[in-house]
Amino acid sequence: MSFDLSVFSNKNIILAVTGGIAAYKSAILVRRLKDYGFNVRVVMTHGAQAFITPLTFQALSGNPVHTELLNPEAEAGMGHIELARWADLLLVAPASCDTIAKFAAGLADDLLSTLYLATKAPVWVAPAMNQQMWAAKPTQRNLNTLVEDGVHVIMPDAGSQACGDVGLGRMPEPEDLADQVKDYFHQAQRALAEKFGLLAGKRVTITAGPTREAIDPVRYISNHSTGKMGFAIAAACYTAGAKVTLLAGPVSLDTPNGVKRINVSSAIKMLDESLHQLEEGCDIFIATAAVADYRVAEVAEHKIKKAGDELHVSLIKNPDIVATIAQQEKRPFMVGFAAETRNVEEYAAGKLVAKKLDMIACNDVSRADIGFASDLNAMTVFFADQYQLEKRDLEKASKQEIAQQLVEAIHDALHHEIDPV
Ligand code: C5P
Repeated sequence: MSFDLSVFSNKNIILAVTGGIAAYKSAILVRRLKDYGFNVRVVMTHGAQAFITPLTFQALSGNPVHTELLNPEAEAGMGHIELARWADLLLVAPASCDTIAKFAAGLADDLLSTLYLATKAPVWVAPAMNQQMWAAKPTQRNLNTLVEDGVHVIMPDAGSQACGDVGLGRMPEPEDLADQVKDYFHQAQRALAEKFGLLAGKRVTITAGPTREAIDPVRYISNHSTGKMGFAIAAACYTAGAKVTLLAGPVSLDTPNGVKRINVSSAIKMLDESLHQLEEGCDIFIATAAVADYRVAEVAEHKIKKAGDELHVSLIKNPDIVATIAQQEKRPFMVGFAAETRNVEEYAAGKLVAKKLDMIACNDVSRADIGFASDLNAMTVFFADQYQLEKRDLEKASKQEIAQQLVEAIHDALHHEIDPV
């Protein structure tokens, strides 16, 4: 599953490294968190510096490493209170017995213990220590105190330890820790979107890509649609808090994060799946697919053999998916697309009425700089008369930006006061 890494570029993590052999794993952890797009600042206790140098973390995080509570030079850069405010998460990995005890007791005699008291950010600790020290009553008592104080304790793994013992106390692998951090921020963002996003809680079905109409078991009729616009809209709807199902024709694109993808091939299959989604519950239906207008009347059971100079294949009309869904009794808010080469607006407005849509977005595919395989698009959006909304021009932009603007247009139509007839 692909993941939009840029969403974490505004999230700040303090990674606090304390004294323990697992400190070497923290170097990889910084690397992973940076790869996910987080801003990382490393705080080291004196104990940690016996295992690994600040320079390593400075190079990996791209930021100066914080080691002292009362160092005038460091305080001039980013003082401890400022650092505490900067953090969206304080992650202590590895967390030594000593640090856990300090947190539990509320001491503030070094930079890390002071930060712990001074930050409003969630605090996670990943204890790593000898199995006997882990099991020791004071350690367990202190950990219970931390849990009661709202700290998230990441359980250590079991296995062989650097000291030769076998048991609980190994720090989880840095890749796993980084994934837990990523998932935490992702879920937090999702919860916000579901509550406050433009399409909070809406169920959206999107058709995308081409359809493939079989001629025989090895040949088919299709078109050049890449599905990029539909996939970008699926991602934008998800980001806006919607529950998204993407009915994808054959395209080679990664499924946007959080989106349920159902692969279909022919127009008939796409229609069947669309009707099924309607039964499942659908508030908004967005038809971006370039559905083949015709399919082969009789698909050959076996590969058609070369014979003669001409081959005639008879085609019959495919159902119009978006128009069929619009005719259903419990119809969702219907959004169509129109790709035209001339009289763009006139044809699009005609389709809006003919297919009984609520909204249509049209583009001029005769322009070489936008549309089909391009990453850019430009569109004009029309709304059905009852919304009393002016047409909207979406200027040339990336398909992601256009998708975002389309989400806004859908939201505006859904929330527009319609005069009772
Ligand atoms: O009629 P035209 O193909 O130009 O209409 C385009 C709109 O109708 C798009 O939203 C497209 O996804 C939808 N459509 C459909 N089923 C078809 C043909 C088009 O849903 N068979």
